[in-house]
Formats: sequence, structure tokens, C-alpha cells
Amino acid sequence: MSFLELSSPAIYKTLIIAVATACEWGWEEHNGSCYRLQSSTSTWTIHNFECVYEGGALASIKGEEENEFIRRLARGRNAYIGGASFGYNWEWADHSSFYGYSNWADQADSYPPRGRPCISINSYGQWEAHCCANPPRAAICVRRW
Ligand SMILES: *[C@@H]1O[C@H](CO)[C@@H](O)[C@H](O)[C@H]1NC(C)=O
Repeated sequence: MSFLELSSPAIYKTLIIAVATACEWGWEEHNGSCYRLQSSTSTWTIHNFECVYEGGALASIKGEEENEFIRRLARGRNAYIGGASFGYNWEWADHSSFYGYSNWADQADSYPPRGRPCISINSYGQWEAHCCANPPRAAICVRRW
């Protein structure tokens, strides 16, 4: 490698990005958080256990921009995200506040429907309420720093 190449601004820009985006291997950085697609299909609960084991949780989604990032990360899969209901309200697996942004395929599901207490994101980026196990799905984890 020549001196000219070493001193090119592009190299330093790459190094700075590598330091600023300290997600571990297999995770993707977006707006200061790390995300991972768990492409093996499983239940919401098992996926969340795996996300927590890795220091995160199934993904919460706080806005349209993050929703679009997660839709793309799922690469056409219908994937579990962190929304779940243990009663009358939706909650996020990372305990952040649920209410604010939402993108329901069916607005009626904004009230947790009986027997469908887990949320997935479909290939259009819309949220769907499902039974937490059937069919098994891929999932998206998030780690926020
Ligand atoms: C980026 O993250 C911050 C806080 O974590 C949030 O307030 C902001 O809305 C996010 N930006 C976008 C474009 O999602």
C-alpha cells in the first residue's frame, strides 16, 4: 500500500466508522443501536430468550425510519418483533414505552386481540398480531447502548 493510499481521507473515514459502530459480528448498526436477524424460525418466547442472552431483546420500533430499517433487515420474512401483550396493553420486550409510533396492518389489533398476543412485522413493514408460536417465525433482536 502506497503512502498516497494510506493518507487518503477515505481510509480514515472507514476507520472512524468502524470505531463508531461497535456492533458485534452478526449485528447491524442503525442510528446508534445494534440489530440482528434471527433467521431460524422459532417461537416469540424462544427468540426473545436468545436476544436477552445476547444482551438485547426482541426489537422495539420507535418510528417509521427504524421500522423501514427492520423491514429491510428481515429480507422479506415475516419476523417477530418485541411487541407482546400480557393483558389489555401492548408492551415491548425491552420495557420501553409501547405507545407512540405504530404501523398496524389491521388497526383493530392496536387493542391486543384475544389469543394473538405477539407481534410480527410483515414484508410490507406492517405489524400483525399473532399467536406466539404458530407458525414459527424469524425474529429481529435489538441492543441499545
Ligand atoms: C435515533 O435515535 C434517537 C434516540 O435513540 C431517536 O430520538 C431518534 O428519533 C432516532 N432517529 C431516527 C431517524 O429514527
